[in-house]
Amino acid sequence: MLYDGTMTCTIIVGGFFGDEGKGKIVAHIAHQDCPTIIARGGVGPNAGHTVQVGDTQYGVRMVPSGFVYPDARLCIGSGVLVDPRVLIDELNRLDAHGRCFVDFRCGIIEEDHIARDKKSDHLRDTIGSTGTGCGPANADRVMRVGRLARDVPELAPYLLDVPASVNAAIDAGEPVILEGTQGFGISLYYGTYPFVTSKDTSASQIASDVGVGPTSVDDVVVVFKAFPTRVGEGPFSTEMSHDKSTALGIQEFGTVTHRERRIGGWDGEMARYSAMINGCTQAAITGIDKVDPACLGVTEWSRLSPKAKQFIRNAEDDIGRPVTLVSTGAELSQIIDLRAEFAD
Ligand code: IMP
Ligand code: MG
Repeated sequence: MLYDGTMTCTIIVGGFFGDEGKGKIVAHIAHQDCPTIIARGGVGPNAGHTVQVGDTQYGVRMVPSGFVYPDARLCIGSGVLVDPRVLIDELNRLDAHGRCFVDFRCGIIEEDHIARDKKSDHLRDTIGSTGTGCGPANADRVMRVGRLARDVPELAPYLLDVPASVNAAIDAGEPVILEGTQGFGISLYYGTYPFVTSKDTSASQIASDVGVGPTSVDDVVVVFKAFPTRVGEGPFSTEMSHDKSTALGIQEFGTVTHRERRIGGWDGEMARYSAMINGCTQAAITGIDKVDPACLGVTEWSRLSPKAKQFIRNAEDDIGRPVTLVSTGAELSQIIDLRAEFAD
């Protein structure tokens, strides 16, 4: 179908080292744009997305983080590794059976992949992997010896041709969200190799993971956090000392591994490069309440402090694209949405 001017397909990816708050941004955009499908790309259950709605905090590793928006079908693209145990456990916990689908070509994580990930000195100690089996499972897929979702009886009720469904929705003019996982800095191609995950993490990869061609993508929202974080080993040029992050009261712990995250200052150079490779059309910045605690929960631009506004303007200069979403706290409603002002 020729492009008819409607914006339907939005990709959301992480601009730094992961854990930028993509889950919350996906959930917010979903509630505003009412997509019929939210499809997940990315590596696999090494990712943890958290979404807080009211006082309830949800953590997901396999189900798309857009699940908090009840009216979309949830799909896992063929490029994503599936650990059937993790998936079925989450579906039970979230009561999401019946609306969550897995592409029949997804690679499968076996117990053996997890054991290999955990017992490898290289992966566990040097790289600091999450120990979820993703690296060995992707290696087996490249060697063409791994099983696919279609080979696993427990997954039979969930199997779908995800690209066929997603492209049909796009062609019908329905809004669709493609959510990425991880972040730019741990991309196998563009990150700090060898301290990276087992796949590219950029927007093009996310589109490929769910079987959407580049000509069908309308918008790429790159999510940056005011204070980037990194879990695992590898270079982190703006990293601050543990004492400093503690003094600022901005420590964080991982959703999957519960490891304490390394914390750094804003990295303008990385933001610009990441925006370039992701083909960023607009950016989201999370954690503005950490730049100035007075901004916690603010939902209007005019109510941000001068310090916060200046931070966002500087970030926008670095990124080279408008910052249209500003997250001011963990809860879903704590956000400033400026997208309408930038719509053409
Ligand atoms: P693996 O992806 O488990 O092989 O881990 C490789 C590196 O990527 C380690 O430094 C992990 O901490 C990091 N990593 C993998 N997934 C995520 C994520 O979702 N958020 C942040 N870091 C991640
Ligand atoms: Mg995470």
